Amino acid sequence: MSLKPLKIEEPKGKLGVLIPGLGAIGTTFIAGIESIVSGLHAPVGSLSQTGTIRLGKRTDNRVPKIKDFVPLATPEDLVIGGWDLFEDNGYEAAKKAGVLNHQDLETLKPRLEKIKPMKAVFDQHYVKKLNGTWVKEGKTKMDLAQQLMDDIQNFKDENGVDRCVMIWCASTEIFITPQPVHQTLEAFENGLRNNDINIASSMIYVYAALKMGVPFANGAPNLSADIPAMEDLAKQNGVPIVGKDFKTGQTLMKTILAPGLKARLLGLRGWFSTNILGNRDGEVLDDPESFKTKEESKLSVLEYILQPDVYPELYKDFYHKVRINYYPPHGDNKEGWDNIDIFGWMNYPMQIKINFLCRDSILAAPIVLDLVMFLDLAKRAGMSGTQEWFSLLFKSPMTAPDLYPEHDLFIQLMKFKNTLRYMMGEECITHLGLEYYD
Ligand SMILES: NC(=O)c1ccc[n+]([C@@H]2O[C@H](COP(=O)([O-])OP(=O)(O)OC[C@H]3O[C@@H](n4cnc5c(N)ncnc54)[C@H](O)[C@@H]3O)[C@@H](O)[C@H]2O)c1
Repeated sequence: MSLKPLKIEEPKGKLGVLIPGLGAIGTTFIAGIESIVSGLHAPVGSLSQTGTIRLGKRTDNRVPKIKDFVPLATPEDLVIGGWDLFEDNGYEAAKKAGVLNHQDLETLKPRLEKIKPMKAVFDQHYVKKLNGTWVKEGKTKMDLAQQLMDDIQNFKDENGVDRCVMIWCASTEIFITPQPVHQTLEAFENGLRNNDINIASSMIYVYAALKMGVPFANGAPNLSADIPAMEDLAKQNGVPIVGKDFKTGQTLMKTILAPGLKARLLGLRGWFSTNILGNRDGEVLDDPESFKTKEESKLSVLEYILQPDVYPELYKDFYHKVRINYYPPHGDNKEGWDNIDIFGWMNYPMQIKINFLCRDSILAAPIVLDLVMFLDLAKRAGMSGTQEWFSLLFKSPMTAPDLYPEHDLFIQLMKFKNTLRYMMGEECITHLGLEYYD
């Protein structure tokens, strides 16, 4: 059966990457792009640059790189800018973030120094632990949104860029639940004019991006784009949106391991996870209100993967605890501990211990690159609103309102690759092996 590929515009010219939050992840992403473009390092961890995709039957031997299969922009095409509430340039911010070693920092200094943040839309009400001075002023939240739209237009004009994407790499905001002001675009716009307290800074960025036709990805667990008003605006303007919360570190491990336990029908009595980290993100998450937003994002993963309702004899009432502890000596090098109490045949108990000495921003930066590349592709393919096929990159994937999120990394990967096959008019792969039954 031959399928019809989607009409996808070619990626011509430069692609603008707009990053609210030039902190540890933002600057590590920029440094990595510069090092890839100048041939210093290979793009390790990036699906768009390193991943492959099987096409057709296994005997066909067609396994191109993803970047050779779908029409993507290249790292050379990227022009990067962003906002922060601290005036530090990219080099100073990267140095403070403490992710990169001295040699990499000094080699990339001339390129990093060129990145000068635009003034942020920021209100300390939403991130209690931060207090910066490089902040926009405006009477209403609508004024601030307009200033962001002006920034986007100026960035495009100055850099000769037609297409942009926006990736939120800024701090985690306080926990906000959906309110009436989030339900319709009209209510939201009134809320912007009336400075509604339930419109957090991140939502003002989302609004500005979508109004300007710029796809938006949310790397933090904030509600941000995950509200009906923004879904409507995204659909109305033909813009894709994705989120939330980059899937790195401990949650990445959880969504690799939990599907394995379920595949072999091993039971779970408890999963205790604790993290120690000492970067600015750790400091922000030391505030209980920001931690609550993160905790919600981290906790739901196991429930969805293990399906206690379907497997009560294995997963009913397992105990799940997640902790984040701010510990400055560790800097950006997070340490994640997991103690997992499982049981097997005749209920005999067993334990798994994980001690993941990871580097948070090193795990997150390739996700940023993939979001840039695939969001731009989705936009050129005419996809709009929430794109669930990005869920393998997120801890708390956004879905249509009536669907539960899929957290199993392997199902997510299959969905992702099948979406690419569908876009290009290739058969989806079900692993059924029907050719043997013909
Ligand atoms: N590192 C990871 O593995 C990981 C994983 C999942 C999610 N995240 C989330 O990604 C985000 C970034 O992480 P990070 O380690 O780079 O943190 P970071 O603290 O180093 O950087 C965040 C930056 O955002 C800036 N900022 C805060 N509010 C802003 C606003 N309204 N406008 C513009 N800038 C603003 C801060 O000044 C800071 O420079 C955090 O929300 C974090 O929770 C990180």
